[in-house]
Amino acid sequence: MENIHPIFDQILGKADKERLLQQKGIVIWMVGLSGSGKSTLAKSFEKYLHDSGKLTQILDGDNLRTGLNANLGFSAEDREENIRRVAEVAKLFAHCGVITICSFISPTTSIRQMSREIIGDDLYHEVFVECPIEVCEKRDVKGLYAKARRGEIKNFTGIDSPFENPENPSLIVNTDLKNLDDCLQDMIKFFVPII
Ligand code: PPS
Repeated sequence: MENIHPIFDQILGKADKERLLQQKGIVIWMVGLSGSGKSTLAKSFEKYLHDSGKLTQILDGDNLRTGLNANLGFSAEDREENIRRVAEVAKLFAHCGVITICSFISPTTSIRQMSREIIGDDLYHEVFVECPIEVCEKRDVKGLYAKARRGEIKNFTGIDSPFENPENPSLIVNTDLKNLDDCLQDMIKFFVPII
């Protein structure tokens, strides 16, 4: 490989990709109970960013637990491995300059600490999508709370598996007290200045 052209010696980094895309690659990590509204908010924020000319990627149960993480369930160990893999993928996207929105219950402080460490403190931005469990259970969009109460699903977050509220999120969005549009405005106000 002696006669390699000098240009091939240059390693392209995050900043080069960000210059190309005219944006900052960050990870927005949405935390919250099932039914709290994480995915709905993630999708509407992604649409807003896309319409503003930004390149985005959503990572959520729909595209991760059906593919890369299809072998994982909901034991404490499997949730940790789920989040570990997601964090590694999110880091790759962010280093490519992509605004990466992760929407996972991520139920414990230690799990979130792990994702923060993998992604890096500077790129990891945690959003707590806060909503009381009674409200999530009442919404029960997928009928999973009812199944968990009947004992048909074990280890359901908030019922017989723990959920620890984030201690120090970058942003708290309360989907119980605000409508979707107001929650979206909170996201825009916080994130647009840093991307
Ligand atoms: S975790 O804890 O972060 O690994 O969970 P996550 O990958 O976000 O997956 C949560 C979605 O899986 C469905 N589901 C369950 N959630 C919690 N506990 C149990 N036992 C469970 N079984 C299935 C549920 O629909 C979650 O979807 P969301 O979008 O959060 O409502």
